[in-house]
Amino acid sequence: MKKVGLLATGSYTPERKLTNSDLEKMVDTTDEWITTRTGIKERRIAADNEYSSDMAAKAARDCLGKVNLRPDLLISSTATAERACPYQASIVANRLNLTNLGAFDLNAACSGLVYSLAVAKSMIQTGPYRNILITASEKMSMLTDYTDRASCILFGDGAAALMLSSEQPEHEILATELGLDATGSDYVIMGGREDYYFRQDGRKVFKFAVTIMGEMIDRLLLKSGASKNDDFYIIPHQANYRILESAARESKLPQDRFICYIDHYGNTSSASIGLALDEAEKEGRFKKGDLVLLIGFGGGLSWAGAAIRW
Ligand code: UT7
Repeated sequence: MKKVGLLATGSYTPERKLTNSDLEKMVDTTDEWITTRTGIKERRIAADNEYSSDMAAKAARDCLGKVNLRPDLLISSTATAERACPYQASIVANRLNLTNLGAFDLNAACSGLVYSLAVAKSMIQTGPYRNILITASEKMSMLTDYTDRASCILFGDGAAALMLSSEQPEHEILATELGLDATGSDYVIMGGREDYYFRQDGRKVFKFAVTIMGEMIDRLLLKSGASKNDDFYIIPHQANYRILESAARESKLPQDRFICYIDHYGNTSSASIGLALDEAEKEGRFKKGDLVLLIGFGGGLSWAGAAIRW
């Protein structure tokens, strides 16, 4: 089987910041409540005329600037595309003058980036593809009800990009896992005709997230031939800092194994793992040989995991 590596990452976040003190002026909330219940301090918000595809294209440009490769396939993860057609991958390819490639969108809510990574890995291993570009971009502000204090404090906008390749299989993707518990499909809802704005059963999603994180850590370690005593880091979907605290407690792992940037980006749905990965990479948080576990979870209720040898 061909080895597939994660060759480069890229990211983009809008300039505008929405802080907890801004939200205190918009709804009945406090910085203290938001910080203790979620760990979020601020989020980025796209301009009215800045769409998910614009952010995806900027993250993709950042990623492509780091590698001397042209993608032969583009997968765009998004649940917040501004149009059904042209779909997001088509807009991004056009913006970046990418030609001679296949392209499609993938929506698996907050698990979308890791779902895309698993699909891309197997398409490289079984198909004619060599270099696959993934974007994960979300304009969550578009689907956020800024009169609902339970949800408007959670979300931010942003985009990330990853380049997978079999040509230079550095940072090898060792294993992936995909899953869905469709009995919880109505626990997270957004973008419908009647329920346009984001709504969730927060407590049920919280419990699900903690359980699935524990299971994914065990399964990804097993599939990678590693154990809890090895050096490894977890980059989970950045939904709530308390989810990471509970997952660390239940998995009996130190908190510093969990990489978290939720304080300054909030929940950016499928972009969140890519943003955290790009930031962690820039800060040099991983050394060669470390195992990095990406764990997505969210609407669906979906989950997805990937183990990468750094
Ligand atoms: O990315 C998609 C996946 N989503 C997730 O992973 C989210 C998982 N869930 C969560 O992160 C948490 O459930 C939330 C952060 C969404 C909510 O935290 P919670 O501890 O479950 O709070 P709650 O919804 O049970 O609300 C507790 C109290 C309520 O008041 P009462 O009924 O106890 O009087 C709410 O009305 O807090 C109140 N509340 C607020 N108070 C101040 C809810 N939102 C706010 C707010 N400011 N913004």
